[in-house]
Amino acid sequence: MVKPNMYYNELKDSYLFYNIAQKTRTYVENHPGVKLLRMGIGDVSLPLCDAVIKALHEAVDDQASKSSFHGYMPECGAPFLREAIVKYYAKRGISLSAEEIFVSSGASDELGDILDLFDRSNQVLVIEPAYPAYVDANVMAGRKIMYLVSGEENEFLPEPNEKTEADIIYICSPNNPTGAVFSRSQLQAWVNYANKRGSIILFDAAYEAFIEDEILPHSIFELDGAETCAIEICSFSKTAGFTGTRLGYTIIPKALKRNGMNMNEMWVRNRTTKTNGVSYIIQKGGAAVFSEEGQKQIHENIQIYKKNAKVLMQALDQLGIWYCGGKNAPYIWMKCPRGMKSWEFFDYLLQEIQVVGTPGEGFGACGEGYFRFSTFSSPEDTKEAAKRIVKLLS
Ligand code: MLT
Repeated sequence: MVKPNMYYNELKDSYLFYNIAQKTRTYVENHPGVKLLRMGIGDVSLPLCDAVIKALHEAVDDQASKSSFHGYMPECGAPFLREAIVKYYAKRGISLSAEEIFVSSGASDELGDILDLFDRSNQVLVIEPAYPAYVDANVMAGRKIMYLVSGEENEFLPEPNEKTEADIIYICSPNNPTGAVFSRSQLQAWVNYANKRGSIILFDAAYEAFIEDEILPHSIFELDGAETCAIEICSFSKTAGFTGTRLGYTIIPKALKRNGMNMNEMWVRNRTTKTNGVSYIIQKGGAAVFSEEGQKQIHENIQIYKKNAKVLMQALDQLGIWYCGGKNAPYIWMKCPRGMKSWEFFDYLLQEIQVVGTPGEGFGACGEGYFRFSTFSSPEDTKEAAKRIVKLLS
């Protein structure tokens, strides 16, 4: 008889965002006609920018004619997109070769898939509160997870502890859910720790485009020595509105080796076996993000989300509620008022003012008592939500 993966028994009953979707669906079914103000999952509300739409249309036309048609794409990514990404990094002084970039169908897919590179016996370190997929993907693979708890005392940016024996380390900066961003020196400390121990950092850079403070690092490869200890996982979802289009990329330096194994070569072997590449049309759309027009347009969209963040931050300021994030990240992480627990506050907002957010407890036990707002809603909904929050909590 087939043996199922018994590690699934160790997972929570259901995934955080699935839970939220179920709860809100039930609410809407019981309150027909009600309009919810959705600031839960970080799903974008603005359409793809013109430069991307134009490129997608052109790519569709390419597929209609024999001379420009594309069949299977190269498994690790189209050269035109890999080159565009090389140039994007070069602007920040990071020198990469196209072979160090792997085009993916999205960062969340990749965060799970990349675990193929590692033996099950590795110890995983997750800095909590954390994006729950880091934990679940490793639980499914039967890996031991250690948690490094962060909090207001270290501004949700903990330092490595030399005594911790972490092999695989997840770092998300700008952070989901707290919006905290590691400074250069803080991130350098993690790079130094990883190089000293032989660990590998999985650096989730999905929110790098939201960084405003120029001194903050966008990429782990801005730090000395990162090419021998880090893999960077990037996404077009939040940067360019690709949540429903699906595209991402992963950087694995050629210098990243462990135990005589070259991680870049291993990933080539993996991708050439397990994928047939990402759609030509979508990669064309992705390349347009890096054009001059594309960059201008995606930053205009990001500014709209940043204005949403300001509206929510002003509301919390007015109420005197503690929060962080919102400035260099599209999430605001607030303390639940009146000593409420995360899910209690979720229900309270849903029932009383039809505002949906994400309970902090869903990002780990230390997130209990906190709550996350996404700033990806429409400006109208965000303003209305801020108004209702102020009225409810004043
Ligand atoms: C979030 O809300 O945390 C993100 O949208 C989830 C994701 O990127 O998959």
